Amino acid sequence: MKNAAVNMSVDIGGLVLKNPVMPASGTFGPEMEKVIDFNRLGAIVLKSITMFPRAGNSAPRVCETPAGMINSIGIPSKGIEYYLENSVPSYSKYDSPLISSLSADSIDEFAKLAEIVTKSNDVDAIELNISCPNLKGNGLAFGMDADITFNLVKKVRAVTDKPIITKLTPNVTNIQEIAVAAEEAGSDCLNVANTFLAMSIDVHTRKPKIGNIMGGLSGPATKPIIVRLIYQVSQVVHIPIIGCGGVMSGEDAIEMMLAGATAVQVGTANFIQLDAMIRILKEIESYMEQYQIKDIREIIGQVVINQ
Ligand SMILES: Cc1cc2nc3c(=O)[nH]c(=O)nc-3n(C[C@H](O)[C@H](O)[C@H](O)COP(=O)(O)O)c2cc1C
Repeated sequence: MKNAAVNMSVDIGGLVLKNPVMPASGTFGPEMEKVIDFNRLGAIVLKSITMFPRAGNSAPRVCETPAGMINSIGIPSKGIEYYLENSVPSYSKYDSPLISSLSADSIDEFAKLAEIVTKSNDVDAIELNISCPNLKGNGLAFGMDADITFNLVKKVRAVTDKPIITKLTPNVTNIQEIAVAAEEAGSDCLNVANTFLAMSIDVHTRKPKIGNIMGGLSGPATKPIIVRLIYQVSQVVHIPIIGCGGVMSGEDAIEMMLAGATAVQVGTANFIQLDAMIRILKEIESYMEQYQIKDIREIIGQVVINQ
């Protein structure tokens, strides 16, 4: 931010950001360039990319819920070749680091994608979307199992020297064991977390509101659960955490940082207000001024417990 007296810079596992605010994968696109200066973002995170072109799920793909939304977009994609030739280069003019989010049907495919993306000098870090369903078609995500998470991250670690951010799923009984598995396999950072598996029914038509029946819940309804997950994960890992889920304001971002996050991602808020991330940045700065915080890192994990 402009105020030189305040340090907003954070390190998310070897990748230094000028500030802790970045978009969540899939909620950001080049059309926002007209409204916000991308150079002001801590990082640019692109929609998850797959190896081959995919159509995505059947409509309707989104529906509103109280204090949130359900989406089942299904990762429509033009494939990795198009992505590296067209999407990635279009962001290289910005000085904010670029994070590629990868989605795949198997562990080997994740590793292959990571290997291909690693060759691009325009990509600064890799986010592993291990929260998507796996090949067996049983609806389970890779990130629901600690052993699968470990093997997946380890295989990706072997083929890339770029920082790895592992995006965890909240749809697990014990997120701590998955977080530890990712860290032990060599992940540099964790994203806590992807969306919550959810369902909504139109009582008049008696049909699910989402074409794919179930989808992922995001938005402010999820924030208290995400804050709890960040806190729990921060108790067991030593790598930085990116908080993601329901950040609508600067205070939401601060809350996640107090719980243990080093940075935050903003998703649903971008659909409500195109320049939400810039407003959130300003609100973080105001909070820092109000409490005379000179360095944003001073608040990471500083929730006061038992005093
Ligand atoms: C329309 C939409 C598309 C999304 N696409 C992706 C995606 O491609 N990859 C991914 O990892 N997460 C995806 N997400 C999840 C977001 O990155 C984020 O984890 C989630 O929205 C929670 O943050 P929020 O409450 O701030 O929206 C998507 C979310 C929405 C609403």
